[in-house]
Amino acid sequence: MSSPSPRDKNASRDIEAPVIAQGTKKGNAQASDINDAKQTKKVFIKTYGCQMNVYDSERMADVLSPIGYAAVDAPDDADLVVLNTCHIREKAAEKVYSELGRVRKMKETKEAEGRGEMTVAVAGCVAQAEGAEIMRRAPVVDMVLGPQTYHKLPEMIAKVTRAKGDVLETEFDTLEKFDQLPTTRDPKGFSAFLTIQEGCDKFCTFCVVPYTRGAEVSRPVDQIVMEARSLAQKGVREITLIGQNVNAYLADAPDGSGQWGLGALIRHVAKIGGIDRIRFTTSHPRDMDDDLIETLGSEPKLMPYLHLPIQAGSNKILRAMNRDHTYAHYKELIAKIRAARPDIALSGDFIVGFPGETDADFEDTMKCVEEIGYGSSFSFKYSIRPGTPGASMPRQVPEDVKSERLKRLQDLLYKQQTEFNHSLIGRTLDVLVEGVGRDGGQLFGRSPYLQGTHFDGPESLIGTIVPVTITGAGRNSLTGEWTQTE
Ligand code: SAH
Ligand code: SF4
Ligand code: F3S
Repeated sequence: MSSPSPRDKNASRDIEAPVIAQGTKKGNAQASDINDAKQTKKVFIKTYGCQMNVYDSERMADVLSPIGYAAVDAPDDADLVVLNTCHIREKAAEKVYSELGRVRKMKETKEAEGRGEMTVAVAGCVAQAEGAEIMRRAPVVDMVLGPQTYHKLPEMIAKVTRAKGDVLETEFDTLEKFDQLPTTRDPKGFSAFLTIQEGCDKFCTFCVVPYTRGAEVSRPVDQIVMEARSLAQKGVREITLIGQNVNAYLADAPDGSGQWGLGALIRHVAKIGGIDRIRFTTSHPRDMDDDLIETLGSEPKLMPYLHLPIQAGSNKILRAMNRDHTYAHYKELIAKIRAARPDIALSGDFIVGFPGETDADFEDTMKCVEEIGYGSSFSFKYSIRPGTPGASMPRQVPEDVKSERLKRLQDLLYKQQTEFNHSLIGRTLDVLVEGVGRDGGQLFGRSPYLQGTHFDGPESLIGTIVPVTITGAGRNSLTGEWTQTE
């Protein structure tokens, strides 16, 4: 999965890059009840991949805090190092092994200098997909934990440190994970992810997610609301409801009136005081129902930005990918969404070089991008994933052809993104101020369309939503002037 993280613009550009190193809390002065336990040990968590992993890393820090672990920004001195990994493309998966090489050296130095032991854990989708192989290839690893086992982390650490044995835990019980994780959260800023659904039943023929994350499971409404309230109490103003297929959300209505889809859940979460902005990601075109589209049009807290991947424009390739819809269906859907919410900006994922993709098929993808128009996007060369149907399909596309197609596609997508950002010059947008800018002096926040936005203003604005008149735009960010209202 690849939707942008509201907090890290680099993460939204390259989903294989580590997106967040869990660190000390920045900018949020609220007291944390989770962190009250005496923390004498240090944990470093490095996160790769999508927002599901970002969320999971935060939750791992939450379960480790009461047993004495404080999150740190660097691995050198850590008692526990967790790599939360991604298996989506070959490059992403291979990164784990090179990182483990570096961790091994740090562990050896730490132990040789008498600074104590270092326990090394691999979590996430590579752990789930090739746990036993990790143990074999990287003896430095003490623990392998799949994405549905994080609530058991304290138990696993005890096993490793007391019994000195290796632990491999890759059971699938998504609901147990969520039942066991604390409902209190320790958010890092003013925008937070909240997992409402996990797993995928779609089995696109290129994708590992159904194997690494299991079947689609939705969390109960009350659990989500409790977590959202706890985030609001700690100063969070924006919540992104996340899931591999978030618009497949389906759970019992708390009032016993039947079942709720994503639209009803959003309207419910919107009633929580303090939460001013709601986003959701990632959606599948097959699951965009009318109720959700209407909610996009009617719920003012819902941001005018939708990540709705199509992957390819050719019907032949869409069929081979098992996406289960045509380009015409997608186009109709976009027309309906734009009619309901005219100010919406679209974002999408694209794969070039899927097996059997001819020049003509690729031109269909270019045509799709030209016709639809995207405000932001993520595009990738097809990567063969062992065990998926795509891996054994005939007519694999040569690497140089994939590279050429990706370049052409990205030239077009980046041009559209730059044009979209330029179209905002002169408009006044509400910006959620997240902190000071990298160069100091300026403030940094996010527009409704997720672009990072820089402007001058007092630090007292941090954590609030303020009007900013846009004066400049680049491909990835905006600059503006704070429009003082008093
Ligand atoms: N559930 C989401 C996306 C999950 S994976 C959805 O269906 O839209 C995030 C993105 O990674 C996908 O949308 C796809 O564009 C890309 N991706 C997944 N598997 C890939 C592969 N084998 N090679 C290249 N890109 C891939
Ligand atoms: Fe992967 Fe397709 Fe599921 Fe998205 S919908 S997670 S691309 S299998
Ligand atoms: Fe996400 Fe990568 Fe797993 S994209 S679901 S962390 S394979």
